[in-house]
Amino acid sequence: MSQTRHVPVMLQRCLDMLAPALEAPGPQPPVVVDCTLGLGGHSEALLAAFPTARLIALDRDKEALRLSGERLAPYGDRATLVHAVYDELPEVLDRLGVPKVQGILFDLGVSSMQLDESDRGFAYARDAPLDMRMDQTTGISAAEVLNTYPPGELVRILRAYGEEKQAKRIVSAVVREREKEPFTNSARLVELIREALPQAAMRTGGNPAKRTFQALRIEVNGELTVLERAIPAAVSALAVGGRIAVLAYQSLEDRLVKQVFAAGAANTAPPGLPVVPERYQPRLKLLTRGAELPTEEEVAENRRAAPARLRGVQRIREDER
Ligand SMILES: C[S@@+](CC[C@H](N)C(=O)[O-])C[C@H]1O[C@@H](n2cnc3c(N)ncnc32)[C@H](O)[C@@H]1O
Repeated sequence: MSQTRHVPVMLQRCLDMLAPALEAPGPQPPVVVDCTLGLGGHSEALLAAFPTARLIALDRDKEALRLSGERLAPYGDRATLVHAVYDELPEVLDRLGVPKVQGILFDLGVSSMQLDESDRGFAYARDAPLDMRMDQTTGISAAEVLNTYPPGELVRILRAYGEEKQAKRIVSAVVREREKEPFTNSARLVELIREALPQAAMRTGGNPAKRTFQALRIEVNGELTVLERAIPAAVSALAVGGRIAVLAYQSLEDRLVKQVFAAGAANTAPPGLPVVPERYQPRLKLLTRGAELPTEEEVAENRRAAPARLRGVQRIREDER
């Protein structure tokens, strides 16, 4: 595996954010969970930076686990790699007999490897089978979504997950085309989108197929639904003093993370109480004001860092029993 294929995004910032939780002395070695192992860039840095920590790393992509397994082999049993979707975190920790953890990292989205593997269909810039499943052992492909979903459902997906204003126009063209012949490859979809869009829409923001591809990918992998369950589950898995860092690359994911963190950091007392009882006190402290962005230098060196938004929280209180 080429180690230069994926440059971990905002790496030092993520390490610094998690450090106080992973360096604090405790009766047991600290546990850090990388929910999105990918090619193991962040994971390897976590193992190197926090020599007493144990790493549990999840990925739904078996190929990512295989490649990272080789990369992290020198760390022996300090690293446990698990094939799982990250909303399964509570079950994974249960199986491993780990009640609470000190650090959790999410680096959302697809990996460079997934984008670069031309046969997986994530990239609109290259012709490939329209697959887009991060876990190729289960679920339905992007082609099946495109060929079988009712038009109204496709419009909803393109609008909600792709923020595509021309969703109706694109879906009408898709439906016309799929009746002639089902979609199998990405190039035909890209071409169709180009033809379907008015000139004015083509002039705004990059490849006109980008939003449709994002929407299909989110649908195929159930990305937002899974994330919506995973962030609260991660908060629940944190020991007091534990920290979570999340890197999001598109506004829908970032919004969701922001909402869960903000809700956890607010007190939930009815207005007007002179003293806020413990059960209404916030469970979380925000570690970022708004979202942190990569520096210009990082973006200049790694274009894939450009859309990154980093948010972090610290657990400051147990749940009320
Ligand atoms: C951006 S990459 C992570 C890159 C990694 N931080 C590195 O430095 O190499 C995201 C990874 O998360 C995985 N992933 C995305 N959604 C997931 C989910 N719901 N559950 C588990 N893994 C997921 C993808 O398969 C991909 O390998």
